[in-house]
Amino acid sequence: MKQTVTTLQKMKENGEKISMLTAYDYSTAKLFDEAGIHTILVGDSLGMVMLGYESTIPVTVNDMIHHGAAVVRGAKNALVVVDMPFLSYQTSVYDAVVNAGRIMKETGATAVKLEGGKEVCPQIEAIVKASIPVVAHIGLTPQSVNAFGGFKVQGKTEEAAKQLIEAALAVEAAGAFMVVLECVPAKLAELISKQLHIPTIGIGAGAGCDGQVLVYQDMLAMYGDFTPKFVKQFAQVGVTMKQAVEQYMKEVSDGTFPAKEHTFAIRDEVIEKLY
Ligand code: KIV
Repeated sequence: MKQTVTTLQKMKENGEKISMLTAYDYSTAKLFDEAGIHTILVGDSLGMVMLGYESTIPVTVNDMIHHGAAVVRGAKNALVVVDMPFLSYQTSVYDAVVNAGRIMKETGATAVKLEGGKEVCPQIEAIVKASIPVVAHIGLTPQSVNAFGGFKVQGKTEEAAKQLIEAALAVEAAGAFMVVLECVPAKLAELISKQLHIPTIGIGAGAGCDGQVLVYQDMLAMYGDFTPKFVKQFAQVGVTMKQAVEQYMKEVSDGTFPAKEHTFAIRDEVIEKLY
């Protein structure tokens, strides 16, 4: 079934959980889409897991468009959300609309995501007014890692928890149709999910959210640089890949690959004339 902003909203209303995963290329998006994933996020996490940067800060709008368009080509039913990278919307409302518009026009995605609470509500309102659906992202917002002083759980004190609730209500009022809650204590995320009409998608925010998102390299154990506490590895794909590469090298080395079934034939009389 083709997922839309409306089907995801209905899932929340019916108490059905929404599954989201990141993807950054055509073949991965196609696999996840065939598995039935509801929504795919082309996260700016691609800066770390695909491009090898230490944070998401260096990621550009062009990077997001390049990967976003590939994912959209692979996703027939999943709703594709593309992240707006650092400084593509914080600078002004005008920049936010122009860059969100470029992402939509050049990728074919259904929505954009941006990080922040009250301070980005004017941007959310303007992008939504331009008929572009917006996913908000509050709690630990990795583009602000330098301001936070590291990747830390958010909303742990009464004051911080109140601010997070206010941020959630503000982005909903600004027109976001969904909100990611990252690294938020589970009970607080559950409370926010109950207060909001729009779906919440948790990452490190417990099971009380309306849905969950993980970076796929984390959940398939393909990225060893850093594994956050909230990650569950659902398969050891990294190990399987390494074993396959070792086996390939062995068979190339001992001449057992390629075998007869992997090669193309030519008639003997043709070959004989070449000697
Ligand atoms: O960039 C990303 O992958 C994200 C998720 C961690 C929510 O924003």
